[in-house]
Amino acid sequence: MTAKILDGNALAKSLRQELRQRVNERINKNLRVPGLAVILVGNDPASEIYVKGKRRDCEEIGYHSNFQHLSSNISQQDLEAHIATLNGDPRIDGILVQSPLPEHIDEGRIIDVIDPGKDVDGFHPFNVGRLVVRRPTIRSCTPKGIMSLLEFTGVNLRGLDATVIGASNHVGRPMGLELLLAGCTVTTAHKFTRDTASRVRSADLVVSAVGKPGLVPGDWIKPGAIVIDVGITRGEDGKLHGDVDFDAAVKRAAWITPVPGGVGPMTRVAMLQNTLAVAEGEFANTLP
Ligand code: GUN
Repeated sequence: MTAKILDGNALAKSLRQELRQRVNERINKNLRVPGLAVILVGNDPASEIYVKGKRRDCEEIGYHSNFQHLSSNISQQDLEAHIATLNGDPRIDGILVQSPLPEHIDEGRIIDVIDPGKDVDGFHPFNVGRLVVRRPTIRSCTPKGIMSLLEFTGVNLRGLDATVIGASNHVGRPMGLELLLAGCTVTTAHKFTRDTASRVRSADLVVSAVGKPGLVPGDWIKPGAIVIDVGITRGEDGKLHGDVDFDAAVKRAAWITPVPGGVGPMTRVAMLQNTLAVAEGEFANTLP
């Protein structure tokens, strides 16, 4: 068996075109375009590249954008003040604070002070909590993008055994909740898990979100499984590598995401979808 490739670049492109069209419809109705604010603190080179990509996306689909590049020395209080201003800005629907933040900044507290109705990353405890109680509002971007990829496969997820490797706040945990909501039987493997191999070997669906190349050897993959690789690590060869041994896994899986060009572009488009949904008032009656 050779797996079908889940092409995130192609799917994200068609979803961006859809967004562009919906923005044009708003313009034709004299409604304002969606607005996204992105705050980058410091000079992390990878973050600078990600933020540049977000700016390009906003230009392509016609969003108003407000990009702020702040000094790595900014105080917690001043960063919170920037967020408070954006919370009150009626042109801004979405606020994204690029992580990682400098060591002296309390990232959890930064997420807490973002208006949950503008939290287009879907990281705020309010939005995560809504997913827990099966009444989702703004959904975390990487899991949301992955759910779009899974929908594209046409595979019925109900009853599948799913193993998520990694239990981070941004990916692993909300991913497990999304799959639970979709009817999967979910296992979350993490750094204390005793036998990750057996949890992966029995899985119909594997999502690996660790950032460790070679973590998932091809022979762990159950024949016919769906394999989603969130890991993205630059190797000494200068190339980007996922967690999964792609060349071996592609011979066993039914569907597999490449790295790069699988999950990454879907995360970006999910954030743009969230921003439009906020602008359209989709969550207006759900907020406290
Ligand atoms: N850093 C890497 N990916 C992301 C993301 O999706 N959102 C935020 N806020 N920071 C990130």
